[in-house]
Amino acid sequence: MDVLQELEDRRQAARNGGGERRIAAQHSKGKLTARERIELLLDEGSFEEFDMFVAHRCTDFGMEQDRPAGDGVVTGWGTVNGRMIYVFSQDFTVFGGSLSETHAQKVCKIMDMAMQNGAPVVGINDSGGARIQEGVASLAGYAEVFQRNIMASGVVPQISVIMGPCAGGAVYSPAMTDFIFMVKDSSYMFVTGPDVVKTVTNEVVTAEELGGASTHTKKSSVADGAFENDVEALAEVRRLVDFLPLNNRQKPPVRPFFDDVNRLEDSLDTLIPDNANTPYDMKELIQKLADESDFYEIQEDFAKNILTGFMRLEGSTVGVVANQPMVLAGCLDIDSSRKAARFVRFCDAFEIPILTLVDVPGFLPGTSQEYGGVIKHGAKLLFAYGEATVPKVTVITRKAYGGAYDVMASKHLRGDFNYAWPTAEIAVMGAKGATEIIYRGKSTEEIAARTKEYEDRFANPFVAAEKGFIDEVIMPHSTRKRVCRAFASLRGKQLQNPWKKHDNIPL
Ligand code: HXC
Repeated sequence: MDVLQELEDRRQAARNGGGERRIAAQHSKGKLTARERIELLLDEGSFEEFDMFVAHRCTDFGMEQDRPAGDGVVTGWGTVNGRMIYVFSQDFTVFGGSLSETHAQKVCKIMDMAMQNGAPVVGINDSGGARIQEGVASLAGYAEVFQRNIMASGVVPQISVIMGPCAGGAVYSPAMTDFIFMVKDSSYMFVTGPDVVKTVTNEVVTAEELGGASTHTKKSSVADGAFENDVEALAEVRRLVDFLPLNNRQKPPVRPFFDDVNRLEDSLDTLIPDNANTPYDMKELIQKLADESDFYEIQEDFAKNILTGFMRLEGSTVGVVANQPMVLAGCLDIDSSRKAARFVRFCDAFEIPILTLVDVPGFLPGTSQEYGGVIKHGAKLLFAYGEATVPKVTVITRKAYGGAYDVMASKHLRGDFNYAWPTAEIAVMGAKGATEIIYRGKSTEEIAARTKEYEDRFANPFVAAEKGFIDEVIMPHSTRKRVCRAFASLRGKQLQNPWKKHDNIPL
């Protein structure tokens, strides 16, 4: 009996982390503890812990006197809606969640297991960074984690949730994962903190301004989503996990659905305004196509001229990329190209079919775009679409002009189904701009007449359809049905790129 009791006592001590006082301090900041977070992330009672009794081996600075069980990180596996994931959750109540050699070994152990068993890794970050007492051993530990992040990339989905400090080199582990989520007002990420910034550049900035959730979801695009509190963030991670396959050899899960595949949406017949320059909300189209109107948006607050996210059609996950005419007329620019390119590559790596909804007037002109390298950034999206071998279905709702027509999953980039609505305008550029160039120097009346002529000739989907670049011009109200049937027909798609060590996408 004594040994059983000893086990229970040891477990209790480990579960107590840094003790009542520090747990209370954690709660007082509106933060949950490492274990409370795991409880919320996983299905009830599904958590199996590893390495609960691991303790650090540091003997400097009197550390040998203080060896709490678990060493500042809780690791293990469990299920999300019955599907396995691995998890690590840093415990800020133990040495500020700082990373020691043994703390890193615990994280590496579950990452290795995730790779071997083909299941996603969710990392909950809440840490003061490298364990200062351990010095280079801690840096080595970080690098071991980094190497595993790199090896796991494209093999199992990796999700980072930032729920406290994440600073210095520590940011580079989340940075290499597929998705980063942050909690508003209680998390921050930066390479160098406000004090160093002040010393080096003389800028005065708070931690929140420098690297809070708002900064990273709106300005830097480092993070993919920001949530009000820990509870909401973890619920949303569960929702995301539900869309994803467990690894790159499995298909995404098929969930029960209650929506009619043949649902007709008459309202879509009038979605496109009469005036070609009047915007409309592309999100409305996405919601009307998706099963139960459920759209999980990624990077909602960044580069809003393009929408990216997941939905389901007939219960199967589909990645959606859509120009948003409400913002910058839906044009492509540096930010939207980068955002969409990364999303397309994620989908392709994990066998998630891609639906592209096109209404794009072209690339955004201007010196800031050219100086910022829009050529290389735009090429990222072009490259990502062109290399993707997953099923690709494209619907052009209105404009598809110039290079942007080519980029947005056109037939020429191995689009499987390229549909257009009757309102589509597929051309080198808008009618007015085109006529002004062809008829330079002519009178305004003449240009107006020629513009009309150009519009009649090119502002439609039929020229492209005649050439087979558009497979079919479809009724807007039947889009859900057509797109569902298209993806259904592509479930057995086989397409391989030529062998190479890896490609050289313009970074
Ligand atoms: C050891 C640490 C620690 C660390 C915090 N603690 N950070 N212990 N190593 N890096 C301990 C504190 O001693 C304290 O212990 C407890 O955690 C809580 O810390 P507080 O300072 O009381 O908390 P708070 O006021 O909330 O401030 C949090 C903090 C601050 C902003 C993170 O602790 C801080 O600045 N820590 C140092 C950050 C840092 O410089 N890290 C190294 C960065 S370099 P007690 O016993 O009092 O509870 C780095 C390189 C990575 O990370 C390189 C990878 C390649």
